[in-house]
Amino acid sequence: MVTLSAGLSPAALQAIADLEHRVVAADGGRLKLEWNALRHRSGEAVEDVLWWDGDRLLGFLGVYSHGAPTLELAGMVDPEARGRGIGAALLNAGLQLCKDREHGSILLVVPRSSAAGRALAERQGGRLDHSEHALELLGDPVEVAADPRVTLRAAAEADRPAVRELMRLGFGWEPPASADRDPHTLVIEQDGRPVGAVRLLREGDRAGIYGFVVHPDQQGRGIGRDVLHRLCRTARAEGADVVHLEVETDNDRALHLYTSIGFQPVITEDYYAL
Ligand SMILES: CC(C)(COP(=O)(O)OP(=O)(O)OC[C@H]1O[C@@H](n2cnc3c(N)ncnc32)[C@H](O)[C@@H]1OP(=O)(O)O)[C@@H](O)C(=O)NCCC(=O)NCCS
Repeated sequence: MVTLSAGLSPAALQAIADLEHRVVAADGGRLKLEWNALRHRSGEAVEDVLWWDGDRLLGFLGVYSHGAPTLELAGMVDPEARGRGIGAALLNAGLQLCKDREHGSILLVVPRSSAAGRALAERQGGRLDHSEHALELLGDPVEVAADPRVTLRAAAEADRPAVRELMRLGFGWEPPASADRDPHTLVIEQDGRPVGAVRLLREGDRAGIYGFVVHPDQQGRGIGRDVLHRLCRTARAEGADVVHLEVETDNDRALHLYTSIGFQPVITEDYYAL
C-alpha cells in the first residue's frame, strides 16, 4: 500500500537501492534517482511515496525540487509487480503532494523506452516538455591541454550575482532565487575574471556535473572542453568510478563536447509537463 514518507530511514534507502537494482537489471539504462537529495531529505515535509508489500518495497516515487520552481517526479515499480496499478497510485499520491507545495510546474520523468510510463503521463494529460540524454564517463577523459589562464575556484557569497547572470545569459532563462546558493558551485575564471560556472557533486562512487555554463562571448574558445576535462580528472582522482551529466537532446554543441571527451549516452528521458 501507498506510504507517504517525510525523510528516509537507512532501511528505506537500502530498500530503494535494492528496488533500483532489480529495475535496472530488468530494463537496462539507469533510473532518475537523485541519491544526494534522497540521502539528505530534511524530514520536515513529505517528499517521497513508497509502496510496501510487507517489508518488500515494490514501488517508489520521489519529488525533487532542485531549488527551482519546477517540481520533478520520478518513480519505478518492481518488474514483477507491474500492471497492478501501483505506478498510477504512486503518481496520484505524488501529484497530491505537489498540490500542497508552492511550485511553478510539474514534470514527470519517463525513460523513453517505457511504454507504461508514457501511458501514465498521457493519462494524466501530460504533454512532452523536453527530452534529455543521460551520459556517463566510465574511464579517463580524452586528454586536453590545460590553459593556465583558466582557473576554477569555489564560489563565494560575493559571486552570487555573477553566477546568476552567467546562468541567465547561458541558459536563456531567469534562474530561480536559490539557484546561486548551491554550495557545490564553482566559478570558472579566465585571467581572474569570471567567465563561467559549474557544479560538481560527489554521490557515493559517482560524480555529477550540473549547471555547466560559459559566458556566450567566451564560448567556442576551448574553455568548456578544458574545464570539463579538469572536472572529470578531479572526480576520478577523488575516487569516482563514473562521472555523469544530462544534456537536452537538442543541445548539439554540448552533446558533441561531452561525447568527444569520452561520455557515452546511457538513456534518453522524456519530461512530461503535468
Ligand atoms: C556547453 C558549454 C558549457 C561549452 O563551453 P565552451 O567554452 O563553449 O566549449 P568549447 O569552446 O570547449 O567548445 C566545445 C565544442 O563546442 C563547439 N562549439 C562551442 N561554441 C561554438 C560555437 N559558437 N559555434 C559552433 N560550435 C561551437 C565546438 O565545436 C567545440 O568542439 P570542437 O572542440 O570539437 O571544435 C557552453 O557552450 C555553454 O555555456 N552553452 C550554453 C549552456 C549549455 O548549453 N550548457 C550545457 C548544459 S548540459
